[in-house]
Amino acid sequence: MLFPDYRPRRMRASEALRRMIRETELSPDDFIYPLFAVGGRKVAEPISSLPGQYHYSVDNIAAEARKAWQLGIPAVILFGVPDSKDPLGTRAYAKDGIVQQAVRAVKDRVPEMVVITDVCLCAYTDHGHCGVVEGEVIDNDASLDLLARTALSHARAGADMVAPSDMMDGRVGEIRDSLDEKGFSHVPIMAYSAKYCSAYYGPFREAADSAPRFGDRRTYQMDPANALEAVREATLDVEEGADIIMVKPALAYLDVICRVRQEIDLPVAAYNVSGEYAMIKAAAKMGWLDEKRVMMETLTAIKRAGADMILTYFAPAAARILNA
Ligand code: PBG
Ligand code: ZN
Repeated sequence: MLFPDYRPRRMRASEALRRMIRETELSPDDFIYPLFAVGGRKVAEPISSLPGQYHYSVDNIAAEARKAWQLGIPAVILFGVPDSKDPLGTRAYAKDGIVQQAVRAVKDRVPEMVVITDVCLCAYTDHGHCGVVEGEVIDNDASLDLLARTALSHARAGADMVAPSDMMDGRVGEIRDSLDEKGFSHVPIMAYSAKYCSAYYGPFREAADSAPRFGDRRTYQMDPANALEAVREATLDVEEGADIIMVKPALAYLDVICRVRQEIDLPVAAYNVSGEYAMIKAAAKMGWLDEKRVMMETLTAIKRAGADMILTYFAPAAARILNA
């Protein structure tokens, strides 16, 4: 059927018609809200690189999680900014570590909410790398035990799900084994499977003080030029026991989300990362973009590409619009 017999505009003529043929629907159910925990009490310190986001002490992070829950957001992912760092990142797997405290506080205040933890060492090591450093080399196998200890200590604090973001080979299997062995076989793993070596993490690294002190992350995070490799990484994580596969960043990698969605039969998450958020915030502040519309368009696009869930700093703002 061709013009003039077929006229696509007929079905765009009213909002009711557009609603009837809409293929992608966003919902607060799709969102996972990232939160940053710091020491102290009653702290809500604005993060300059992420306007509208804050460093929260444990008491305030629980209150923030509760607000998100009341907006219909089912899950948070917690990041920690520790008081001290050392070569082995010991505060990442300390029983009284900042994330462990935050998990307990959120579970105490909002028991039904899904509390996910980011499992990595970079915010806790003095060199800022995601694994153990031997000279200037990141030692893959020596990192696995520390990552598994971190995941286990999060589970012991009450985390409902752990999300390894370090990109060491074999870490999903190592974490699965250690959780299973210690009585946490019910705790799912959301694997940052296709995590690219991206400049879009800039604002996050400022927020988490997790930038590498030497070199970069190119020897463990993926080359932005590769897509087949993302499917291979995801396949390995499925075999090692992942429950959710993540692609990160989202916006410059919509093709990767689409491919992973087609090739892998597990839920797919996409991380709408700090730089993607900051770009929209900055342009809106300059008066160059309509923030709310660009936000909703971006999140819709990530879902349309194939993401079943979206980690996003926009979660509460977008949920408010969807609930209105
Ligand atoms: C830690 C981690 C990072 C992000 C999530 N977990 C930073 C990095 O890998 O350098 C980035 C999140 C964002 O930019 O919003 N490995
Ligand atoms: Zn890291």
